[in-house]
Amino acid sequence: MSRTHRAGPGRRWLPLGVVSLLLACGGPRAEPTPAPSGPPRLLILSSMIGYIEPCGCTVDLLLGGIDRAAARVAAERAEGPTAVLVVGPTFFDGAVKAHQVGQEESKARLLGNALRRLGVDAFAPGPTDLGQGAPLYGEVAQGLPDVTVNVPGGQGRVIALGALQVGLLGVAPAGATLAGGTSTDPIPAAQAAAQALRAQGAQVVVGLAALTRADLRPVARGVEGVDLWVLGDHPDELGAAAAVGETYVIEAGDRGRNLGRVLLRDAAGPGRLTDPVGDRDRQAERLKLQIQMRQDMAGRMPSPQLKAAIAELKAQLAALPPAAATGKRFEYSLVPLPKEAPGDAEVAAWMAKWNADLKAMNLAAAGDIAPVPAGGQAFVGDAQCVDCHDEPMQVWKQTPHAKAWQTLVDAGKTFDAECVSCHVVGFQQPGGTVIGKTAGKEGVQCEACHGPGEKHADMGGGEAYTKLRVPEAVCVTCHNQKHSPKFDYATYLPKVLGPGHQKRD
Ligand code: HEC
Ligand code: HEC
Ligand code: HEC
Ligand code: HEC
Repeated sequence: MSRTHRAGPGRRWLPLGVVSLLLACGGPRAEPTPAPSGPPRLLILSSMIGYIEPCGCTVDLLLGGIDRAAARVAAERAEGPTAVLVVGPTFFDGAVKAHQVGQEESKARLLGNALRRLGVDAFAPGPTDLGQGAPLYGEVAQGLPDVTVNVPGGQGRVIALGALQVGLLGVAPAGATLAGGTSTDPIPAAQAAAQALRAQGAQVVVGLAALTRADLRPVARGVEGVDLWVLGDHPDELGAAAAVGETYVIEAGDRGRNLGRVLLRDAAGPGRLTDPVGDRDRQAERLKLQIQMRQDMAGRMPSPQLKAAIAELKAQLAALPPAAATGKRFEYSLVPLPKEAPGDAEVAAWMAKWNADLKAMNLAAAGDIAPVPAGGQAFVGDAQCVDCHDEPMQVWKQTPHAKAWQTLVDAGKTFDAECVSCHVVGFQQPGGTVIGKTAGKEGVQCEACHGPGEKHADMGGGEAYTKLRVPEAVCVTCHNQKHSPKFDYATYLPKVLGPGHQKRD
């Protein structure tokens, strides 16, 4: 921890305008690039959990893309001195299924390359990042500056953002297996590291917490001298920091949908870093809540005292001064990465190649469809249902389930094991489908909801061999939080029913 590092990788980037100017002039000139004049900034990528692009399953799921993140980071570097903080879990969200190992490992390699290209100043791995073994981790995390302090030999670092010295430290949950060994209690380690970083001249100290929200709370309260903490383990997407004890916690969301951005203003001086805009908003929220509570009470039981209290609170709200624009402070915001945002061409090319390579990789890894155990039955496909169930078939054909495979064809994703799983029948199940062996069972067909129906179809009925009822638990195997965040059984169910395909009580 003896050296002060210049927030370096950014130096590779020139603002686009400068690049075209250089090209127009026929080559680089001697004049140095003018330093960006905006405030120093921290850009946060938290909980990437192996995502390089959005799935696009709903309109809410179009944000993200590591190519867009890279382009946006480059644009921010042109605005002001920039540090990129990556808080894990980054490469893996948990155990990887056997048939997805090749896909997930190559995606982790791509993600590592993309992170190195966009330039990372501090990296805090989560425990699941080593899930595919230390050798692979060593490869994908190579060159990413690990600032975890609660492992043997772990150290934070101080970087220069313009004239500002920023200390960076990371913590993992105690007892995790990390590259440096088994992690210890984060509180004493972070406390010692924060002091050491201050002693080295850090004017602002930021903690990267590869922890759950519940685990971060005692750390944020128990460690002095960390100005703000960034939550890594499945943070919410929050546009404001939360005040916790004497410090702040930032939740910038997961999957690379947004970049969290912290602008540091007048931050070189002594004292605490504050969040005047957030503090004011939080105070206003508190007052509004108190007014609401009293208004509810007054609705039930009016009284002059309540009326006076409401008037008083309203006056306080109206009199709240605007947020201070002076002092050692930060401004936090979420920067979304929408579909229209430009992407870094090189990273985009890597992604396209990865996608193209998936076919060969996953076909080779797919294996055979698992045999049906004795007494079980196979999925036979909707062609076997239509003869006897014309009416349900007509209803089903009108639903998006019938075109779920075409959706993947259009997206070029029919060999992505992740996507295929929910857009076909019986994926990886006995007598179901595997990558490359989906013919006749493509789309969300009858048996995705009613279960495999081989015997039922053979017998021409037989209620024991199909399931009439389709409880919510069946729907949410696909309509989960990550791919169908607005799913609601009561409102979605009627949309899959119709004449001859009805719910019976
Ligand atoms: C866990 C199951 C699941 C996985 C995995 C999954 N999807 Fe989906 N997908 C769904 C569901 C459910 C919907 C419908 C969501 C809704 O409307 O609420 C959907 C909808 C879509 C749509 C929108 C279709 C339309 O016409 O509006 C697209 C595009 C899509 N998925 C592509 C993908 C891609 C690409 C992947 C892989 C990266 C993927 N899906 C992985 C379950 C999944
Ligand atoms: C095997 C996975 C799977 C199961 C099980 C499943 N769905 Fe779906 N569902 C999808 C996919 C994939 C889509 C998107 C299809 C497309 O447009 O490409 C979808 C789309 C829908 C849509 C259209 C949403 C929209 O915005 O238009 C509704 C409604 C729906 N599902 C309801 C249900 C209900 C209710 C259940 C359970 C009774 C259920 N689904 C079970 C995968 C599934
Ligand atoms: C998204 C899930 C889903 C899909 C896909 C689906 N069904 Fe259904 N089906 C249901 C639900 C839910 C019911 C109503 C069950 C109940 O009564 O609770 C139902 C009812 C039925 C019934 C009884 C209908 C009646 O009115 O007596 C039949 C038969 C049936 N489905 C056959 C099919 C066939 C054939 C297909 C494919 C063409 C199909 N289903 C596709 C969910 C689905
Ligand atoms: C040869 C004719 C035939 C074929 C093929 C067939 N079914 Fe049926 N199915 C029936 C008959 C008959 C019933 C009972 C009708 C009734 O009571 O409504 C039935 C009932 C059902 C029910 C309602 C069960 C209940 O408890 O009420 C579902 C769901 C169903 N079939 C799904 C399927 C699916 C899915 C397929 C294709 C895999 C399929 N069927 C193929 C004849 C057939």
